[in-house]
Parts: sequence; structure tokens; C-alpha cells
Amino acid sequence: MSTLREDFLRHVCQTSPEPMGVEIERAHGCLIVDKNGKEYLDFLSGIGVASIGHTHPAVVHAVKEQAEYYLHTMVYGEYVQEPQVRLARRLAEVAPPPLSVTYFTNSGTEAVEGALKTARKYTGRSGFVSFFGSFHGDTFGSLSVGGNPLYREPFEPLLPEVTFLPFNAKSALARIDETAAAVIIEPIQGEGGVRIPDDDFLPALRRRCDEVGTLLIFDEVITGFGRTGKMFASEHWNLTPDIMVLAKALGGGMPLGAFMSTPEIMATLSSDPPLAHVTTFGGHPVCCVAGLASLNFMLETNLPQRAQEKGEELSHKLCSLVGHGDFTGVRGRGLLIGMDFATPEATRHFVRNCFAAGLILGWTLHPDTVVRLAPPLIISSNEVDRAISIMHDDLH
Ligand SMILES: Cc1ncc(COP(=O)(O)O)c(C=O)c1O
Repeated sequence: MSTLREDFLRHVCQTSPEPMGVEIERAHGCLIVDKNGKEYLDFLSGIGVASIGHTHPAVVHAVKEQAEYYLHTMVYGEYVQEPQVRLARRLAEVAPPPLSVTYFTNSGTEAVEGALKTARKYTGRSGFVSFFGSFHGDTFGSLSVGGNPLYREPFEPLLPEVTFLPFNAKSALARIDETAAAVIIEPIQGEGGVRIPDDDFLPALRRRCDEVGTLLIFDEVITGFGRTGKMFASEHWNLTPDIMVLAKALGGGMPLGAFMSTPEIMATLSSDPPLAHVTTFGGHPVCCVAGLASLNFMLETNLPQRAQEKGEELSHKLCSLVGHGDFTGVRGRGLLIGMDFATPEATRHFVRNCFAAGLILGWTLHPDTVVRLAPPLIISSNEVDRAISIMHDDLH
């Protein structure tokens, strides 16, 4: 009789030489509990998903209730499904105006694909502009605008006519011209190492897109829903993109992505030809009720503000550890925080030792000297202190 771990290694496609391999028993709040009863403090929120905590009771209740009514009923956009409609209306209330129309998908990368296709069809242009260090997902279109050749090269040829510019370099923005259907950017780069642009960079990008008639797509898959201390990161700069991409925390733990835009831009998907962009499962009713329960909880508890406060508390405590054990600096917005280390080895050791002590942290996909912290936004001061104590023990 094989063990669960052996079957995992044998039958579940492996994507990493060193899977973390926690055998999950259950997860709630900020905790993940393994099959031996060991508790882990989850400072990654799953992977940026559990902003309201794991297995939130309001989400579980909504999921159970909807499952009794109906699951999948028809391809996207044909039937009036109350969970979709109610979530789309709520999103229109919280998104920066005039972004009031939502297309629901199953994931972040599908939402990016939809955004790119919409931009091409709406503008009649074919090019895209993206930034070095960006990450937008792993399907072909999203990968084509991903800013690290390491991940693109094994799968080439990808989409042609993608120009990569340095992130946060205003002088490079002149290279955006009338051939570009859209510029896609994470307002704060996540996998790129929690990189926060200078205050004048994104406003300059918005101006340049307007000058040349190129759509501006903000990928808020990581930064959305309060993670950076505002409901959407665009609010830090009072900017409105033409298209906003959402996923991760959107579904409250269920698989849900979305792209939102103006009625005019989204109308391009309705005709010429009709049904040119559909999905079987996108906007699944069970996922939409979960999303609505999650969003309502965020709004009722003013979760973005809480993320701002807890982020300041955590950053402040982290600052007192800088200088110990190759930990060289800290930066972040709200509860999206990057810790810099002197070497990749020091980074790996730190993550591994904290994990053994019951604290889940993650490194980022592109730079190998940054540890990313993205705990649930509901985190308590006690949990912050517990994490700091584990980090302190390893660094000293
Ligand atoms: C900024 C950003 N965009 C898109 C994606 C892709 O989302 P998904 O994994 O749901 O396809 C990710 C995933 O980490 C992401 O960080």
C-alpha cells in the first residue's frame, strides 16, 4: 500500500524539484494544519488568495447554499445567473469608474488572455507592451507578456510584437507608440520581487497611453482587494486603467478571475462575430457566491484599511531585524512586503528554516534574493508577533 506522499509524487504532475509537500488536513484563518496536527502560520495566504483567511465561514455558507440550487447550467453569458449578476454589480460599485462591466473567468491567466484579446479587437492593433520582471500567468498569451525570458524561452514561439520596457523607467515610455493595442503592467510587481514604482511612473504611463491611443491594462491579480492597503492598487495613484484584471482573492478561496472595463470597450466582445470569446466554467455560480461573500466581508470590515495598519505594524517589526543574518532590507505596501537577502543561499535557508518552525513564506519567481510576505489581511497582532519571533530565532 503506497502512502499519500508516494502517490502524490507518482501520480500528480510535479512542477518543482522540491515541493513543500505539506500534507494538508485543514486550513482556517491564518493557519494551515497538516495531517500530523502541526500548525503552520500561512504568510503567503495560499498563494495570495486567502485575504479574508482560509475557509471563511461566510464563504463556506454561501458555497453550501448555492450548491443546493444549481451548479453549472450553460456556457458563459447565455442565462441570467443571479450569483454572477450580483457580484458584477458589486464589483462595479467598488472598481474605479467607469469600469463597470465584468467578464468572469476561472483564473488570473484566463482573465489576462481575455484582456489582451479585448484590447486587440477594440483597437484593431496587434502589438503589446509589457515590463521586465512582470508575471501575468502561464498560458500562451500571458506568458508572451511575461517579463522573464527564462520562463518564455522553453515555449517559444509565443505571441509576436511584444515589446518589453524596464519597469519604473519613465524615459522608456516614449517607446510606446500607435502600434500597441495595450500596455499591461502590475502596478506593484509581485513575482518581480515586490517592486514599487516611483510616484510619477504610473501617471506618466497613463499619459503616454492616452497620447498614443493605447489601452492601459492593470493586472491587479495580486494587488487587488485590499492587499496593498487600498481596495485596488491603482487608488494609490488615483489612476484608472482601461482594463483591470482580477483573480486570486476575488473568489474568497474558490477559482475565479475577471477582467473589468468600460461598457464601450467591453461591447467589442458582443459582436463581429458573436461568441468569439466564451467559456464553459468562467463565472461559475458557486465561485461567484463565494466572491460576493468575500467582497461583502472586506467592505463590512474595511479590510483594506486593516491591511494598511497591519502592514505598517509588520514592516516596523521587520525593520528591527534588518542587518541580522544576511537580511538587508524591507519594503512593501500594506500587506505585500518584500524582504531582501544578501544571497540566494541565505534566502533559501531562511525560508526553509522558518517553514520547519511553522511559518510559511515564499520566495518570488524572478529574483532569488527576495522573500515575499503576503499574510491574510485579517492577521492579528499575536500572529504577527509569532511570525516575527520565528524569523528572529533564525536570523540571530
Ligand atoms: C500578477 C499576476 N497575474 C496573473 C497571474 C496568473 O494567475 P493564475 O495563476 O490564477 O492563472 C498571477 C499568478 O500568480 C499573478 O501574480
